[in-house]
Amino acid sequence: MFLTRKEEEILNGVRGEGLALAMETVVKVAEVLGATRLVEISSAHVSGVSYKNLGEEGVEFIEKLADKGLRFAVPTTVNPAGFDTCAYAKMGVGSREYQLQMRVITALSSMGAKVILSCIPYITYPPKYGDHLAWAESNAVLYANSVIGARTNREGGPFSILEALVGRAPYVGLHTKEGRAPTIAVDMQAVREFVEEKGYYSALGYLLGSIVKTGIPLVYNPPNGLRRPSNVRLFLASVGASSSIGLTLIEGVSPEFRRVKGLEMIDMELKDLFEITEKWRSEEVDAIVIGCPHLSPGELVELLNLLKGKRVNKRLMVFTSRWSIIKAAKVVRELENLGVEVYADTCMVVGDLSTLGLRSCATDSAKAAYYLTNQGYVVYLASRNELLDLATS
Ligand code: F3S
Repeated sequence: MFLTRKEEEILNGVRGEGLALAMETVVKVAEVLGATRLVEISSAHVSGVSYKNLGEEGVEFIEKLADKGLRFAVPTTVNPAGFDTCAYAKMGVGSREYQLQMRVITALSSMGAKVILSCIPYITYPPKYGDHLAWAESNAVLYANSVIGARTNREGGPFSILEALVGRAPYVGLHTKEGRAPTIAVDMQAVREFVEEKGYYSALGYLLGSIVKTGIPLVYNPPNGLRRPSNVRLFLASVGASSSIGLTLIEGVSPEFRRVKGLEMIDMELKDLFEITEKWRSEEVDAIVIGCPHLSPGELVELLNLLKGKRVNKRLMVFTSRWSIIKAAKVVRELENLGVEVYADTCMVVGDLSTLGLRSCATDSAKAAYYLTNQGYVVYLASRNELLDLATS
């Protein structure tokens, strides 16, 4: 493996033992993946930081790195944690869990992380076309690659910490030109009108992931609504939930989309989409949960506009970033006045809905539906508009 002089120095311990260990792991992983060199990254995004994910051992691992005095070499953001750090008492978080989570946050922050506790780093700190990143969080990876044209593999949570420390990622997969070539074509002509009319972008993404599973789909004739950021985010998050895909080249959306001849072509069918929408039809709905991925400030405004003049009769919970709450502070106050519960720093999946008294819920995110079902909740999947009708009926 070719290493630059600076990388060699780090590996040889010139900048300290802790950094050398991080570099050693990054180089080993790169070799296993078949990379011939590393690539400088412009940012990192760390996921899996909930105390539930990490456990005592994981927390200690991050603390040990921080105790060595290590600092992130590049701007590094952090995914949602196990609870809202301001509303933890309301969320029924015990003091042991609180302490564990805060130790993670303190350690990451002392290493220089921007602890946004959100899965939409592409809105808070958007990368540029062609930037190389080390992001761990599938919805963020898919958005960065597919909509912005930045380059990142789907990194693992702990590995992204090491990449952030050395400022490098293995130059392999989606970092390379060849690794970004489409592997299969998918035509959405037969489903586009239905999706457009119903707003089922999330189910569409889940279906795409279930069909393609791996590789890079080239999407022809997508519904026009996929050009809207909120729809494409719901779509891509669900692609990530049902597959290992990290880049989807969408006609009219992705800067790198080019028509390619000779690829195997799959025609999406309505019956397959119905299978997805029929999968989550719970009649029992304790609450409506929106915000997977986290809502942007613009989506909070949209939500308020859709609810204005109506009465919220059903428990409606919204998950967003602290940054979005600050940007849209007035809107959030108005939403709360309408009875909407707004949470930051966490989400319906990494947090614990049971401590909020929920056994069932309705969501507009097939990603959330998938993970919440695995956690034992009964789920109803619908479009955002349908959910708001349900909340106000
Ligand atoms: Fe984000 Fe949680 Fe969904 S991290 S993408 S809101 S599962």
